[in-house]
Amino acid sequence: MQIPDIIIAIDGYSSTGKSSFAKKIATELSLLYLDSGALYRSVTFYAISNGIIAPSGEIDRQTLCKSLHDLDIHFEDRGNGSETYIGDRCVEKEIRSLAVSDRVSPIAAIQEVREYVDEKLREFGKKKRVVMDGRDIGTTVFPDAEIKIFMTADPMIRAQRRLKELESKGEKNTIDEVLRNIKERDFIDSHREVSPLVKADDAVVLDNSNMSIDQQLDWVKKLIKDRFNID
Ligand code: CDP
Repeated sequence: MQIPDIIIAIDGYSSTGKSSFAKKIATELSLLYLDSGALYRSVTFYAISNGIIAPSGEIDRQTLCKSLHDLDIHFEDRGNGSETYIGDRCVEKEIRSLAVSDRVSPIAAIQEVREYVDEKLREFGKKKRVVMDGRDIGTTVFPDAEIKIFMTADPMIRAQRRLKELESKGEKNTIDEVLRNIKERDFIDSHREVSPLVKADDAVVLDNSNMSIDQQLDWVKKLIKDRFNID
């Protein structure tokens, strides 16, 4: 299917499968996929690794903001698809751990961190033909995105999906731990002062509790066809 040069913004709650969906759309429609959450997760991993977040969860905000100037987080494809790097180190596995998930939302609520990430995202967005997923892509990062999708799903279904994903990566967690983390992040993300998670007025809601990825793909293709009068 041929589509015009557009930005697709996918926002929504934790573990609704935004990134799997966005990757599928990117492959199918020849768009560049960008995972904004990976950038917030990388800042968090960096902060944990460098003692900027105390074990109690307390954040040394001043040190963190200072280090952002020299923090080189980027995406590279060294043969395994696009992966996240801090400098020379691939951190793709580490940033998906529950340890990082447990600390990421307070870090993502810091204004300077959001500015750091937004600048990177807008740079990528200049290329157009991009599909990006996150919490504030359609509201703050690309308010003019041509297609905006807001994803949601039943919390228990989301927790089961995330547990499976963590298990496949060799991480052992309980369903209660994962569900607690999902609910906590939903709450912090929706209630923070800077760029909270809210549905953009012109976003279309997708509840994928009972949908396969192929059904989602058919749904978005129809959305794009209708929007741009494509046969
Ligand atoms: O994969 P999952 O949906 O669980 O999360 P993610 O997209 O990897 O994002 C991890 C965290 O980063 C979220 O819980 C938010 O706190 C933060 N985030 C954000 O604030 N804004 C974005 N555009 C993307 C992520």
